[in-house]
Amino acid sequence: MRHSPSLLTALLAACSAAPSVEMPSPIDPHSFAEPQRVRSRHLELDLALDFVAKVARGHVVHHLERVDAIAPFVVDTDGLVVRGAFDQHGRPLFVDLAALPDPLRGQRLAVRLRADTERVRIDYSTTPDAEAMQWLAPEQTDGGKQPFLFTQGQAILTRSWIPLQDSPSVRVTWQARIQAPGGLVPLMSAMRREERADGVHFAMDRAVPPYLIALACGDLASRPLSNRCAVWAEPSVLDLAASELADTETMVTACEGLFGPYRWGRYDVLVLPPSFPFGGMENPCLTFATPTILAGDKSLVSLIAHELAHSWSGNLVTNATWRDFWLNEGFTVYLEHRIMERVFGRDRAAMETNLGMQELADELRSLPDADQRLHIDLAGRNPDDGMTGVPYQKGAAFLRRLEQAFGRERVDAFLRRWFDEHAFRSVTTATFVDWLQRELLAQDPAAAADIDVTGWIEGAGLPADAPAADSALFAAVDAQLAALRSGTAPDRLDVTSWVTQQWLRFLHGLGDCTPERMGELDGAFQFTRTGNSEILCAWLALAIRTDYRGADRRLDLFLLTVGRRKFVKPLYEAMLARPEGLARATAIYAKARPRYHAVTQRTLDAMIAAADR
Ligand code: BES
Ligand code: ZN
Repeated sequence: MRHSPSLLTALLAACSAAPSVEMPSPIDPHSFAEPQRVRSRHLELDLALDFVAKVARGHVVHHLERVDAIAPFVVDTDGLVVRGAFDQHGRPLFVDLAALPDPLRGQRLAVRLRADTERVRIDYSTTPDAEAMQWLAPEQTDGGKQPFLFTQGQAILTRSWIPLQDSPSVRVTWQARIQAPGGLVPLMSAMRREERADGVHFAMDRAVPPYLIALACGDLASRPLSNRCAVWAEPSVLDLAASELADTETMVTACEGLFGPYRWGRYDVLVLPPSFPFGGMENPCLTFATPTILAGDKSLVSLIAHELAHSWSGNLVTNATWRDFWLNEGFTVYLEHRIMERVFGRDRAAMETNLGMQELADELRSLPDADQRLHIDLAGRNPDDGMTGVPYQKGAAFLRRLEQAFGRERVDAFLRRWFDEHAFRSVTTATFVDWLQRELLAQDPAAAADIDVTGWIEGAGLPADAPAADSALFAAVDAQLAALRSGTAPDRLDVTSWVTQQWLRFLHGLGDCTPERMGELDGAFQFTRTGNSEILCAWLALAIRTDYRGADRRLDLFLLTVGRRKFVKPLYEAMLARPEGLARATAIYAKARPRYHAVTQRTLDAMIAAADR
């Protein structure tokens, strides 16, 4: 059949003008869900928290969009106890829960629908070892009196506490009611929170990917930082947290000035107990953060800039599958540096960019080629395997390369349009590449000529045209490192007004020292006693590598309290690389393991098992 040109034009115009018209979702190898047939659009969560049994009990109601009238509703679950499913009239529905869990995806749950089923309620409980949930004993909190719970959904852990279509391409709006024991305050990554007699109610009316649904509950209090920003923490941590994060509003305003309005209402930060396995997690409206950023001098707050930046890159425009993760993290690192530059100046941003690139260079030496690609193939693998410096630093370097070729003004406008036009959508790498071609490269073919987009996105290594990240403040450090190597004693070095990033550069550049030299350095600069977690972690790793025993007690204490994977992993790695290191690592790990979140446990279990072979 031939359409008249006017009809075709009208059709095409209608499609491109209506952002609600969604492309069929890309196949996600990390989910059982079949959203192209039956899709969940909204969920109502109702859970009661039991801190004694370490389980949550209740139900979730899914509001369905049925495209294929005879298809079942398929959700992801992992270790959930499912009691049954019911339609909106309360009539039971037949459920089929896979008997054998898939090692990666968990258990597929299919609910057979009736012709008139619009909503499905699934009654369930979690189990104490739900991977997303960490239930902390009172001793693991600062206050020491009350237990604590937090969830971590990214990448594919939400299914261990909510049965849902756990793919970042399936966005849902949601609401929740949480019942918690008296004295404990539940918080969620929601736009609204209301305390009522029957529990605390939450609502998120922007469609979000499932990995951004988060819950925390403990002895928590808050302090306003501005009209729309506040910090939450245990009461004993609140003062320190509030002064450290005092620049939060300035950061939000800075990012809005660059990339468009903040679209999530409030921006609050929750400072968690130290077992939190990540530095930060960009849960909407409520960033979760490790307390290890509280250095006392705001020197580690780029982490807040990072999580805040995800409010644009990641939460507004989301990777459709985990192989597109670089669209979340690479863009976010780039935005993070831009925020830091605006709020703390060029020197600070340049040092942080440089440190990131250095980390990437170190890591690339041991990564297989296939894992050095931005558009990584993660089928059959845990998406966690893709969480290397590649999506973060190489991704950000690609945007800096575009900035170098096209100028800031054009790249900023380009990024702002990218966020505006894809807001509240999940996108693939192919969508970005098309957009880049059309909206930037085609506008200036001369500037585009030397950029090998495919090389950047599909190739291994760091392309030769990656922009350098020079820093004058690092040149000063390098001069002192050279002086040290040519015989200047540590206590004669000129370290006047060095900031944290310079100390990190210094520690990285030290190379192999004798234990005696380490002792002199410690005597001169008190590294073992530093209250700065980044400096401490770098120092402890060096102490292990050089067999300097003066930091042993601090190392034990650190590994027994801090569960942030980025810190503990290199420390165990350094131990395992030493003779007798396996015994030392296993002895500490035996005590520390029960205090770590499942994410950290999984990484360390694999590392220690491999060293034991
Ligand atoms: N979204 C990530 C954390 C994450 C990624 C959790 C993948 C699970 C799977 C978060 O934004 C992040 O990147 N955190 C970093 C800190 C940041 C400053 C680079 C971290 O936790 O180290
Ligand atoms: Zn991130």
